[in-house]
Amino acid sequence: MREMKRLGIMTSGGDCAGLNAVIRAVAHRAIDGYGWRVFGIREGTLGFLRRPVDYEELSLKIFTGNILRMGGTILGTTNHGDPFAFPMPDGSTRDRTDEIIEGYRLLELDAMIVVGGDGSLDILRRIAQKGELRIVAIPKTIDNDVGLTENSVGYSTAVDVATEAVDRLAPTATSHSRVMVLEVMGRDAGHIALNAGISGGADVILIPEIPYKLAYVARKIEALKAQGRSFALIVVSEAVRTEDGAPVRVVDAEGRRRYGGIGQYLGERLAEMTGAETRVTVLGHVQRGGTPSPRDRLFASAFGVHAVDLVAQGKFDRMVAWSNRACIDVPIADAIARNASVDPAGALARTARGLGICLGDAP
Ligand code: F6P
Repeated sequence: MREMKRLGIMTSGGDCAGLNAVIRAVAHRAIDGYGWRVFGIREGTLGFLRRPVDYEELSLKIFTGNILRMGGTILGTTNHGDPFAFPMPDGSTRDRTDEIIEGYRLLELDAMIVVGGDGSLDILRRIAQKGELRIVAIPKTIDNDVGLTENSVGYSTAVDVATEAVDRLAPTATSHSRVMVLEVMGRDAGHIALNAGISGGADVILIPEIPYKLAYVARKIEALKAQGRSFALIVVSEAVRTEDGAPVRVVDAEGRRRYGGIGQYLGERLAEMTGAETRVTVLGHVQRGGTPSPRDRLFASAFGVHAVDLVAQGKFDRMVAWSNRACIDVPIADAIARNASVDPAGALARTARGLGICLGDAP
């Protein structure tokens, strides 16, 4: 194997809490542990598309105690502009992957650590295969839907934020005798909703993996009322559809369709059906920002160290993962092939049902 001297690192896809802790761990292990130089690529693949390549050399001096605690990513990131079909100013798309491969070579990298969710890891792996680039992946996403790992960086913080939101909605729901609907992120996976809903004591949790009937949710609210409860807490995942299966989307300023609106849909229907006063909160990007939780800092640190060790051992095309209290590694291709959604018969769905929480498929 070629001697390792120059290691690249990039954060790609949507940001989340804990990315700076990953960068810090990678830099410490690579610079201190192996004596390599580490180059951070700015804004994911966009940094490789610029000329000169947009990067900064990472020195341990920048990793003061604060970086570990900082949300976001000091390198920046992007979650659009697929390099295989990059949107050009004239409206066309172009395959710009050769420029990314060239960027990697211009920096004379010996290997690169890529931090991403399943979408960006899929793209980066295909580029790596095409250009014979040596990559090791670290899973990050608040959605926690990357396969073969129990945890991805960012997820724990998002669950903490969503739980705190339920905690904050509960007293105001009680004061005003209202039904509070909280819409959380997670894309097609209901992990954030299910975890925060159970932890926050929700009465109803709706997730994309479990089809629901509005009548069951309304019946749950009425049953609570009959028991003397004047309020109810509902947590819903952003990708939950209308009762008849239609996707609910908003169109952003750039004309892109994104998740959003299911909370409002539910609030309106349930108000009509039960007569309850409802209010809707859309939690949005606060789930991605802010100080990373201790668990996210731990996963970030363990993943960063393990990823650099894999590079040192010449093990590429692998993703670090957390399994059974241990940091392991798996082929990137296997991890991204298995989207990890909520198991409707799994431990947490059973826990919710056992607590009397309505998951929408029964009253
Ligand atoms: O995948 C992470 C995620 O935060 C999803 O939960 C959410 O649907 C999406 O990204 C939001 O993306 P954007 O930052 O482009 O609004």
